[in-house]
Amino acid sequence: MTQTTAWSGRFSEPVDARVKRYTASIPFDWRLAPFDIQGSLAHAAMLEKIGVLTAQDLADIRRGLGEILADFEAGRFQWNLDDEDIHFNIERDLTRRIGDAGKRLHTGRSRNDQVATDVRLWLRASIDGIQTQIQRARSALIDLAEQHADTVMPGFTHLQAAQPVTFGHHLMAWQAMLVRDAERLADCRRRVNRLPLGAAALAGTSYPIDREFVAGLLGFEGVCDNSLDAVSDRDFAIEFLAAGALIMTHLSRMAEEMVLWMTPRFGFIDLADRFCTGSSIMPQKKNPDVPELMRGKTGRMNGHLIALLTLMKGQPLAYNKDNQEDKEPLFDAVDTLIDTLAIFADMIPGIRVKAERMRQAAIEGFTTATDLADYLVKKGLPFREAHEVVARAVAAAEKKDCDLADLALAELQTFSALISDDVYAVLTLEGSLAARDHLGGTAPNQVRAAIVRARTALKG
Ligand code: ARG
Repeated sequence: MTQTTAWSGRFSEPVDARVKRYTASIPFDWRLAPFDIQGSLAHAAMLEKIGVLTAQDLADIRRGLGEILADFEAGRFQWNLDDEDIHFNIERDLTRRIGDAGKRLHTGRSRNDQVATDVRLWLRASIDGIQTQIQRARSALIDLAEQHADTVMPGFTHLQAAQPVTFGHHLMAWQAMLVRDAERLADCRRRVNRLPLGAAALAGTSYPIDREFVAGLLGFEGVCDNSLDAVSDRDFAIEFLAAGALIMTHLSRMAEEMVLWMTPRFGFIDLADRFCTGSSIMPQKKNPDVPELMRGKTGRMNGHLIALLTLMKGQPLAYNKDNQEDKEPLFDAVDTLIDTLAIFADMIPGIRVKAERMRQAAIEGFTTATDLADYLVKKGLPFREAHEVVARAVAAAEKKDCDLADLALAELQTFSALISDDVYAVLTLEGSLAARDHLGGTAPNQVRAAIVRARTALKG
């Protein structure tokens, strides 16, 4: 015998088995269970307050939902495909446990405002979890930056050695990306944190509900203003995915640098063995699989963002079943973000820095050439001419396979008579770093000041 569903009353034949599987969301939306229960508890308390439920009904509902939550947490709750989604599954089981009070819970509510509420509660908690991991990642970067506030490396443009920077400065650039990511999530959270309940199916309800009371119980900052909008729009989820795609984009860039730095060609860093894997055929290999996967998983995040944008674009008001498709991308996005950020935060302290290689690369790259130009400008040469002089000096050093600082004074003077022996102070890597001594610059004392500011911001 086919089980009746909550809505089968008006139907003359049972739903097709394939259609049942096609339309059911319980295989994935079971994850919303604790939030569905949280929402139902608040709704029930409100119904009792306005006299729709008795105190006894409310007590029964609390007991029943408490038991269901305990079963869920113990992995004992039995999902049933016949009950389509998480909302029907819980409602049916509640009614089985407590009788008629379970059937009265859905008064003045629809699955449309219920699911929007569940997703918002779940997403709010997820954002908080992601923020915790961003903080851990930031803190790990700041700690490593502090150890390397003086460690010289070449800074790059076009992936060509450009000017000396410190490794600490580079790490603090990564940290700055994560600061903005955290800000974007916090801003998005304000719009997630609004109550759809009370919108019911689409038009509101004829019961004298108290939405502010429910919002207060659930910790929402306010209620969704319009019932049609409340059940239909998923822009809050799209915003979240956009913020998430940027987080992954940032992590992907960092991952790419780690992969590059780990190749013997760069040889700037080594990742701890526990974050790498070997090759099944080439015994010498140590592969940076973790950063590669971080980079690779950015693809699925971008996909999820596009999926939800596309899901939304053709929908007329108000709720449409299309919206059921918001969940799997969202769930996967949160899992991907939490895992990636957590592993990233764990990996950073295990980075072994090969400071000598970094230094050598900065020297080989003539990274103090700009400093020589600036030196000539300070002696009165127009910058364009100084640029020309230095280009010739670099060509000479390149021919001799030596650093600019290795050229004899007499030779340097063949390029410009303005050069005297004080030039060597600006040609050193340390001299170049120390000269960039302003807010946001790479001078080691500026990097240390940035670290102090970042630590204060992290606590705040
Ligand atoms: N499982 C549905 C979803 O995820 C719940 C809402 C269904 N409402 C409806 N009227 N079919 O969106």
